[in-house]
Amino acid sequence: MQLLANDPLKKASASAELRSRDPEGSGRDKLRRRFATIESLRLRAKRRVPRFAFDWVDGAANDEECARRNIRALAAVELLPRYCIDVDTIATDVELFGRHYSSPFGVAPMGSAGMMWPGAEIFLAREAQRRRVPYILATPANASIERIAEIAPDVFWFQLYRFPYNDHAITFDLVKRADAAGAHVLVPTIDSAGKSKRPRDMRNGVKVPFRIGPKTFFQVATSPHWTMALSKAGMPRTENIVPYTEGRATRDSTAHTMQVKARGSHTWDELARLRDRWKRAFVVKGVLHPEDAERLISLGVDGLIVSNHGGRHFDAAPASVDMLPAIVSAVGKRATVMIDSGIRSGLDILRVLALGARATFIGRPFLYGLGALGEPGARFVMDMFADELRTEMQHAGIQSPAGANEISVRHPGAWRD
Ligand code: FNR
Repeated sequence: MQLLANDPLKKASASAELRSRDPEGSGRDKLRRRFATIESLRLRAKRRVPRFAFDWVDGAANDEECARRNIRALAAVELLPRYCIDVDTIATDVELFGRHYSSPFGVAPMGSAGMMWPGAEIFLAREAQRRRVPYILATPANASIERIAEIAPDVFWFQLYRFPYNDHAITFDLVKRADAAGAHVLVPTIDSAGKSKRPRDMRNGVKVPFRIGPKTFFQVATSPHWTMALSKAGMPRTENIVPYTEGRATRDSTAHTMQVKARGSHTWDELARLRDRWKRAFVVKGVLHPEDAERLISLGVDGLIVSNHGGRHFDAAPASVDMLPAIVSAVGKRATVMIDSGIRSGLDILRVLALGARATFIGRPFLYGLGALGEPGARFVMDMFADELRTEMQHAGIQSPAGANEISVRHPGAWRD
């Protein structure tokens, strides 16, 4: 930058280059130059969103080592490119459980996403439907199963937490609703065995539902874009829990019901009962141990998501990507292996495809996009991942996601017993 500023010739040629890449000087291209990476969106979101809400999304468990490990472990994966291949035409579409999707990535389930940007679930589901990528609605989301099924009928998957209370009556009712609404895939999460310790949330005194009190007033007052979005979308509530709340279903009572009635990790017996009831695709999320993967196969799952919940629960957990090869080799062709945790670029998507994942889910980056840009952030981030993936596939010398299996990979962190 320094050099450019002092050298008028270089400066002129740089702006000519920008003009040639952006002949119409459109707003979108300006945004692309300004926010070239997920990290730049993250930093902008940090300035625009109240601190307690940003930290709720950005933060992770304990010392946040696991969250960092996910990112470091992905960066360490090297792919050996092949050249002299015609990569003018690239296809990124994939088939998952008998349905076609335009790209091998989807939106991971995120509870209370509306805290980062009010209306988040609706904006992301709408964009997922438009672009035709999977959208997983979280049990504790700020939008209901029925609403998302209306908005995103072709791409709607439902994530299920465990409600042991009253012989799982709530769990089974949620499953019934997801079935009636036409969710294509049921996704029970198994990696949430206990409460997690998140120091940032403790410091900020944040709870679900958040409230604007003396501690947070200043943060809200200095976040006018967020406040405007809140006034449009309304105060977020744990919508799926409305029918299970005694008395009036307020923000407090729905969140309270979720907190006291949802608990622990679905046991093997419970997963078998769920598998029995659910006739469409059944995918378990939060798998890290190859022996657990093996056991899930014997239960008849159709797929699994290798995940450590983005480091939000167990700080000692290995990076998801480091467990991927062992799980892919344990599962073989018997089920579809997918992954999430730490994906921050199209190159990361290519890395996990090369290691045998059929698709990946992505969490925080979508919320950074919304925090930074509001509703258009959903499309912006999906475009960024899709465009980057295409480019990186060209560099690696492959024409389709299936071709990623052929890429030679060096993976120093791969887990071995
Ligand atoms: C999550 N995640 C999550 N997972 C799940 O199964 N049910 C849930 O309700 C939630 N809630 C949730 C809230 C927020 C704010 C975040 C950031 C994450 C975990 C999520 O599905 C996914 O595993 C991680 O987000 C993936 O890591 P990255 O992409 O965020 O690094």
